[in-house]
Amino acid sequence: MLTQAENDLLARVGPGQPAGELLRRYWMPVAFVQELTEEQPTKFLRLLCEDLVLFLDKSGRVGLLADHCAHRSASLCYGRVEERGIACAYHGWLYDTDGNILETPPERNDAIMRSVKQTAYPVQRFLGMYWAYLGPKPAPVIPRYDVWVRQDGRQKIVVHPQLDCNWFQAMENSVDPAHLQILHQEFIGRGQSRPVSTTRGYTDDVESYEFHRVWYGIIKSRRYIDGKTDEPPLIFPNDLAPGPEHPDPYSHR
Ligand code: FES
Repeated sequence: MLTQAENDLLARVGPGQPAGELLRRYWMPVAFVQELTEEQPTKFLRLLCEDLVLFLDKSGRVGLLADHCAHRSASLCYGRVEERGIACAYHGWLYDTDGNILETPPERNDAIMRSVKQTAYPVQRFLGMYWAYLGPKPAPVIPRYDVWVRQDGRQKIVVHPQLDCNWFQAMENSVDPAHLQILHQEFIGRGQSRPVSTTRGYTDDVESYEFHRVWYGIIKSRRYIDGKTDEPPLIFPNDLAPGPEHPDPYSHR
């Protein structure tokens, strides 16, 4: 069991927290491109403990700003997009995608426009999604992992319900090698076979587990008693890549 302090170290991801600073070094997919339209040009996001608004202005630029207006904290999610950015719905302060203040109704206030800036983060479009980067500049390149950029197949994106847990719990599950043969025993059996014991599932098919650290994450390796192995790589910070590159020992069932 982890102590409370160890849990806090891993699970707290706000600005200035160790895990938060680490995760801010990665691009995060935050929305599908289809989610921002003329009719619905804004989307509220809560990412790494920050309240943000993603928006598409009328010039086609996409921005990611802190959601609370620098004036009196109204949510910019209710703002009106214009050619030059997004105007706060409350008093009309106008922001561009870099967080610059372009208008301060009812009176132009040059001092505010020079000195105040709304927090703004870079956004990129990749794989049919918008990706956000909340870390220090310069932002790294979004990695071009094989299945993300290969052209010799069909890409399918499935949205699952939000997991009500912290990021580390999901990734700890991804690197857990032992639950496959028990939790997913019906999937392994595919209606064709059943394990001798539902308690142990197909656990006894596995001879050994190993882990290998690699530059992009961790490879968990299962060696089976029939000599096969499977090695789905965990790609830090939030991907698991099972697939045919990593032979499925149950494909014969
Ligand atoms: S609260 Fe946004 S302009 Fe006043």
